[in-house]
Parts: sequence; structure tokens; C-alpha cells
Amino acid sequence: GSGLNGKFVAKGKKFWGSAADSNTLNIASNANILKAEIGALTPENSMKWDSTESSRGSFNYGGSDALVNWATSNGKLVRGHTFVWHSQLPSWVSSIGDRTTLTTVIQNHINGLAGRYKGKIYGTLLLSINEMFNEDGAIRSSVFSNVFGGDSFVNVAFQAARAADPNAILYINDYNLDSNNAKLQGLVRLVNKVNGGGTRLIDGVGTQMHLQQGGTGGVAAAINALAATGLDVAVTELDIVGAQSNDYTAVVRACLNQPRCVSITSWGISDTNSWRASSSPLLWDTSYRPKAAYNAVISALA
Ligand code: G3I
Repeated sequence: GSGLNGKFVAKGKKFWGSAADSNTLNIASNANILKAEIGALTPENSMKWDSTESSRGSFNYGGSDALVNWATSNGKLVRGHTFVWHSQLPSWVSSIGDRTTLTTVIQNHINGLAGRYKGKIYGTLLLSINEMFNEDGAIRSSVFSNVFGGDSFVNVAFQAARAADPNAILYINDYNLDSNNAKLQGLVRLVNKVNGGGTRLIDGVGTQMHLQQGGTGGVAAAINALAATGLDVAVTELDIVGAQSNDYTAVVRACLNQPRCVSITSWGISDTNSWRASSSPLLWDTSYRPKAAYNAVISALA
């Protein structure tokens, strides 16, 4: 195949994806690139808790439906993002003080989302938990860890997602896992603990990879360390300050060289729509023209 996704799939990988939502799907030049180059979409914001359940029990799937429907009609997979995250979390959730209520609320939220999109798309990936670690590998302080008194909310969330869609592939996801560092090792310990109970709850580990220029030296070691869990590894939100060809090539080679690395998702297409637009981190410029780094990636996939 041609395009990033076609070439990546020809190497035995599942997909090259991109973040999107209605704001970017409605830009024709952006949509054309997604159609030609991309195999899966991650909702950049529309599936987050503040978008989907801003008040308790009252679900709004408008934005996420638009993303999922666009993906379905254009033959793209969808990667869910994100079911449990301390950020973009409505205050009605962060102010819950007791474990019984929070358990019910997590279960209901996940059941709503996973139930709505269950079986709609072959290979739906449901990203379940995001950014629950500190840099030192300890569990981040959040309403979830505070109310549960530790990490047991992870089991609650993954069990709820598994029950709502038994065929979904469930990931845990975090940032700054860009070398084999303490945070990465904390995540690996938790994954092994949660899956060690006899039932596999976590199917994959996601590394966001919001990288600095020249920040790719530890990436291959990091991907290999995540792969040592025995689970699938996904690069879930790739962008690199300055978008140097050698940095992008290093990430692509690291994934190609690790059989358990199944996918790469760019955190957008054009620099103009990036959350870090001022650092020009993506593969297409502000006029939707491919940059040198795009050509370098294509060469690395040849
Ligand atoms: O939708 C409102 C709009 O109604 C309002 O007028 C406008 C005014 O500020 O804000 C709009 O919401 C913004 C939203 O993006 C949609 O554009 C938020 O302010 C803004 O904070 C939000 O930023 C997103 C950010 O997550 C929030 O944490 C970025 O687009 C998104 O790229 C970014 O993505 C995260 C991943 O989900 C998790 N990993 C890190 C990554 C980068 O921060």
C-alpha cells in the first residue's frame, strides 16, 4: 500500500493512526490526508469524561459519534481515548469522596462508552486508563487513587471495560515513558501486578511520546522494556518538537525492530492544528504539505 498506514501495515503492523475530531475532520485538506495516509483515528477530545458525561448519568455522545461515524464510513479503526483520566474530569467526579459511589460512577461511565461503541468497528481499541503515574513511578494523587487508597481503581476500570466489550483491546497509557526510566518501571510493575491475578485485564501498554527535539535516544530501550510485559505496545500520541527527520526515523525504527510494537498514532496531521503548534511537531506543515520528516518516515518504511 501507499501512504504511512499502507507501508506500516505492509511491515506487519496494525496501523498508523492520527488524532482527530470534528474540528479537524471538517477541514477538507486534513480529511484528505487522513483518508490517504491513516488507518485509525483517536478522538483528540470528544471521548473524554468532560465531553461525554459532564453531569452524572447524562451522556453526550455527539462529538464521539461524529468521530466514530467518520471512521466507520471511511474504513478506519478507532482507538478510544480516554475512559479514566484525572484531567478533563468534571468537578462532580473529582469531588466524590467515597469508594462505593466512585466505583459505581466509574463502572457506569465505562459501561456507557464501551457499550455504545461495542462491536461497531472491527478491532476497536478502548484505551482505559491514562496518566496515572508520577515521574518517580509512584501512583499519581487523583480522586481515583485518593478515594481508593491506592491503585485498585485500575482493576475496577478494566473489569468494567472487559465486561462491557469482551472483544475490545484494553490499554493503559502514559507520557514520559521515553527511556527505561522510573516511571516506565512503575507502570510495568503495576501491569504485571494487575495481570498477575490469573485473569488478564490489561492487553496493551501505550506510550504517548510527546518528544523534545533530539529526545529519541532512549526510545528503543523504552519500547523494548514495555514489550517485556509480553503485551502489545502502542505509540499513542506521537509528536516531536522541531520534527527532525532523524528523530522521527528513530521512533519508526524502534517500533519496526520490536515485534510487539503494533501501532504508531500521530497526535494530529498538520502543525496548524497541533496542541503544540508553536513547536511544529507534526509531519505536515501549516499548509498541509508533507514535511521532510514525512519523507524520512516513508523512506524508513520502504
Ligand atoms: O471546546 C472548548 C471550546 O468550547 C472553548 O471555547 C475553548 C476555549 O479555550 O476551549 C475548548 O476546549 C479545548 C479543547 O482542547 C478542545 O479544543 C480546551 O480548552 C483545551 O484544553 C483542549 O486541549 C486538549 C488537551 O489534551 C487538554 O488536556 C488538546 O486539544 C489535546 O490535544 C490534548 O491531548 C492530550 C491527550 O488527551 C492526553 N495526553 C496529552 C495530550 C496533550 O496535552
